[in-house]
Amino acid sequence: MTHPEESVSEPVISLRGVRADLGSRPVLRGIDLTVNHGEVVALLGANGSGKSTAVRSIIGQVPLAAGEIRLFGTDRKAFRDWARVGYVPQRTTAAGGVPATVTEVVSSGRLSRARFGVLRKSDREAVRRALELVGMADRAKDSVDALSGGQHQRVLIARALAAEPELLIMDEPMAGVDLASQEVLAHTLEEQVAAGTTVLLVLHELGPLEPLIDRAVVLRDGCVLHDGPPPKAVGQHALPGHDHVHPHEPIHTGLLS
Ligand SMILES: Nc1ncnc2c1ncn2[C@@H]1O[C@H](COP(=O)(O)OP(=O)(O)OP(=O)(O)O)[C@@H](O)[C@H]1O
Ligand SMILES: [Mg+2]
Repeated sequence: MTHPEESVSEPVISLRGVRADLGSRPVLRGIDLTVNHGEVVALLGANGSGKSTAVRSIIGQVPLAAGEIRLFGTDRKAFRDWARVGYVPQRTTAAGGVPATVTEVVSSGRLSRARFGVLRKSDREAVRRALELVGMADRAKDSVDALSGGQHQRVLIARALAAEPELLIMDEPMAGVDLASQEVLAHTLEEQVAAGTTVLLVLHELGPLEPLIDRAVVLRDGCVLHDGPPPKAVGQHALPGHDHVHPHEPIHTGLLS
C-alpha cells in the first residue's frame, strides 16, 4: 500500500514526553521513543517497568496524562488507519468469552480490511497463509480453548500477520513459545521485515530475534534508560533494572519470565 502524502523520513511511531497514570500511579514518566520506517526496535526492561503500558498507549488503550504520540505522522487521536497496524497483546492466562475457532480468531485480523465485515477470497487466503506461517494450519477448525498456551500465542501472531500490516507491534510474542516455534516465528518476522514492515517488539530476551533487532530501548521505572544498539548477550540478567525474582540457572526452553 502506498501513502504518497507521507515521506518515509517521517517516523512510523513517535512518542514525545509521554506520561501516563494508571490507578493514580505514574507508570510512564516522560517517554521519548521513535521507530523509523523499516526499523525493528526491541522494548526491554524489568517486570513493571512500563513496557506494556507504553505499547498500549501507542495503540490508544491507555490515556495520556501529558505528551504526544504520532503514528505515520498523524496525531494518535486523529489516527484512523488501524488496518496499517497489527498488534499482538501480551499473553494473559485466561482467554475468556465465547470460544472461537482458530480460523475465526485469525480472521478477526482481517476485519479492518474487509468491506462491511465480509471476508473475501483474498482475506481467506491471507488467513490461511498466516496460519501456515506459524505452523497452525492443521488446527484451523479447532476451538482456541483446545490449544496450549504456546499454540494460542502463535494464533495471536497469525491474527496480526493476516492483517498484512505496515507496522507490527508485539508484546512479548515469544513468551511461552518453545524454541523450535520461536525460530519459525523469527524466520517469519524476517520475511515481513524484508518486505518493509516496521516492528516494535516487547521482549525479555532477544533470543532467536537478536539478528533482526536494529535498536533497543530499555525502560526502567517508566523512563527510558537506554536507546541504542541492543545490549550484548541480553538474557534479562544483562539488563539494568533486572530484579532477580527468578532462579538464576538459565533454562534454555526459551520460556520467558
Ligand atoms: N490497569 C492498571 N491499573 C493500575 N496499575 C497498572 C495497570 N496496568 C499496569 N499497571 C502498573 O503499571 C506498571 C507497569 O506495568 P506494565 O504492564 O506496563 O509493565 P511491563 O513492563 O509490561 O511488565 P511485564 O514485564 O511484567 O509485562 C506496573 O507497576 C503495573 O502494576
Ligand atoms: Mg508487559
